[in-house]
Amino acid sequence: MSITFDSATQTFHLRAPNSSYIMQLVKSRYLAHAYWGKALRGTSPGALLSLRRRCSFSPSTDPSDLSLSLDTLPQELPAYGASDFRVPAYQVRLESGSRVSELTYASHRIYPGKPSLEGLPATYVEHDEEADTLEIVLSDPAAGLQAVLSYTVYRELDVITRSVQYVNIGERPLRLTRALSMGIDFPHAGFDALYLSGTWARERHIVRKPLAAGATVIESRRGASSHSLNPFLALLSKDADEEHGETYGFSLVYSGGFQAQAEVDPYGTTRVVMGIQSFDFEWLLQRGERFQAPEAVLVYSSEGIGAMSRTYHRLYRTRLCRGVHRDRTRPVLVNNWEATYFDFTADKIVSIAEAGKELGMELLVLDDGWFGKRDNDKSSLGDWFVDKRKLPQGLEDLVERVRGFGLQFGLWFEPEMVSPDSELYRRHPDWCLHVPDRRRTTARHQLILDYSRSDVREYIIGVLSQVLSSCPITYVKWDMNRNMTEIGSASLPPERQSETAHRYMLGLYEVMERLTASFPHILFESCSGGGGRFDPGMLYYMPQVWTSDDTDAVERLKIQYGTSIVYPISTMGAHVSAVPNHQVHRVTSLEMRGHAAMSGNFGYELDLTAFNEEEKRLVKAQIELYKELRPLIQFGQFYRLLSPFEGNETAWLFVSDDSSEALVAYFQVLAEPNPPNRKLKLRGLLPERDYVLEELGGLEGPPLLYGGDELMYAGFHLPRWKGDFRSQLYRLRVQQ
Ligand code: DGJ
Repeated sequence: MSITFDSATQTFHLRAPNSSYIMQLVKSRYLAHAYWGKALRGTSPGALLSLRRRCSFSPSTDPSDLSLSLDTLPQELPAYGASDFRVPAYQVRLESGSRVSELTYASHRIYPGKPSLEGLPATYVEHDEEADTLEIVLSDPAAGLQAVLSYTVYRELDVITRSVQYVNIGERPLRLTRALSMGIDFPHAGFDALYLSGTWARERHIVRKPLAAGATVIESRRGASSHSLNPFLALLSKDADEEHGETYGFSLVYSGGFQAQAEVDPYGTTRVVMGIQSFDFEWLLQRGERFQAPEAVLVYSSEGIGAMSRTYHRLYRTRLCRGVHRDRTRPVLVNNWEATYFDFTADKIVSIAEAGKELGMELLVLDDGWFGKRDNDKSSLGDWFVDKRKLPQGLEDLVERVRGFGLQFGLWFEPEMVSPDSELYRRHPDWCLHVPDRRRTTARHQLILDYSRSDVREYIIGVLSQVLSSCPITYVKWDMNRNMTEIGSASLPPERQSETAHRYMLGLYEVMERLTASFPHILFESCSGGGGRFDPGMLYYMPQVWTSDDTDAVERLKIQYGTSIVYPISTMGAHVSAVPNHQVHRVTSLEMRGHAAMSGNFGYELDLTAFNEEEKRLVKAQIELYKELRPLIQFGQFYRLLSPFEGNETAWLFVSDDSSEALVAYFQVLAEPNPPNRKLKLRGLLPERDYVLEELGGLEGPPLLYGGDELMYAGFHLPRWKGDFRSQLYRLRVQQ
């Protein structure tokens, strides 16, 4: 059992392979955080927590012991109103008008395995031996509130998952006005915060900044996890880099509005809280009702940011993503969006498929514009029936023709939306999120269907199921192109209106659960104007995501590098598109576009019929090479070597689990006059073995032999290039 409770010292010790997470009951009442870091064998009584009397401005709950103050006690689920002035993890409003609460220890239990979270995505186990779970019940009888804190430790990963279930155990109704998933108080400050920020076409750029007194807040108020800030925060020791230093990661398994906050107090402690966005949240709990907060996934690494990322990658790839596609290599696809936008015919799509067959593509994806009367983005969302003007013989015929070339067929939907100009909206104007007597603000000319309503959910499941069963479709791109405004539901009473956004998410999760369960053979890829909902919640239902609408190879270096901080390579869709690039108008080489896109789930998003002979030869070679390398790329260990945020060069490395094979991708954005000689040092290889290093593609030099130690500690020489936008792949294989 990796979790123990020592009744003598009143400590809970959660043991992951290289880390310990320790809590202590103080005065048998308060659940205090004692330690999280490198593994400890045990703890001497009193060594971890040190309580100290502060001034009268830090009140004490016990007049006979002024060292005990909730204002300074490190806590696991801090409350508001009963003498802790720091940021709380939950808040209540009682019928009496009181907002005060204090949860104290009631009981606990420890058991092998990990339960699922009702209605919510979460990491899981396949066998109970993979993890152990601790449930601690805290209660506040005066408020009629109970909180069940769940902690799961994976036995082979430095991961602790946390979640909270809030229960009304009283006689009267109560309102949760904040219901976060976790709190943790580090006894020290001096951290850097690292998080992922951006916007449409510029997602998940890395931000690193020192924490100082006061709060650092990472949040989304958009009703979706968003392009702007990802539901992720890491605290780093000052010396932390890719390979060294302490790193504490917090990642929320949720796709709606969220908040994460790191607050440094005057005594140099740091409190982190994370959960559902609370500023427009309220949840009514009637007697006996429960509210389940989403899961937060905490990862510790004493070996830098790279090791933290690889832990997230392994956990999310194997124990968050589900379904038959989880462990399968992903098909090389061609998507018609940037080739045709809304302007296509069945013959045009078939000609792209035909060209795709010759090049080695495996899947054709028909994007937006195949339904209703959708010639632009102004109409038809919700009308999920085939547009016979564009596809006169119907979808079935098109699918058959595409499959005739040996390609699978995939289809685009945006099932959460409705266009005001649609038959669906004209029939059901109440089916969108809206507030009476207010404008229904549109974005991309569309409104959001109210997934908190069961009639809306049933309708959508029905129409999508019809299309998906009508012909052999093996891939779905699930898009979502706007954020929430005027958040209200015609089906909820006034006292539950502030529950709409979260009820929407629960509804969305239900729809995705049912559809993915009914069509298990379909590979679902989520998308939100590119990466506007690239979060762990979506990965539970759909094992890959369209990383960004920005397909420019230079921009993609930052986007994919930043995304890899948390998310596995097998989750990132990456396509070669035409030049000048449609987002930034940059012209990069086909080699570089290929190498950037081959560093994810590879595909093309351009008119294949427009290639000249030389381009065809190159693309064919890229696809052939990718097929050979994709198990390593999609499922190998990922190492970031040179950061696009720090200079002109980027490099990353994929290493097989047994380190016998590796692939380096190296990119140089701009040419440098008379550059210095540069070497690149690798990681994750076997120092005692020799590797054959082969330059792939463009350069194709003769293979060279290097020691694994040499490659890691001395490095190998990088090319000196003339010209902008250059890149090179290197393949390494252990010499037999
Ligand atoms: C936004 C997506 O990110 C694009 O890839 C494309 O599917 C468009 N929507 C279609 O409207």
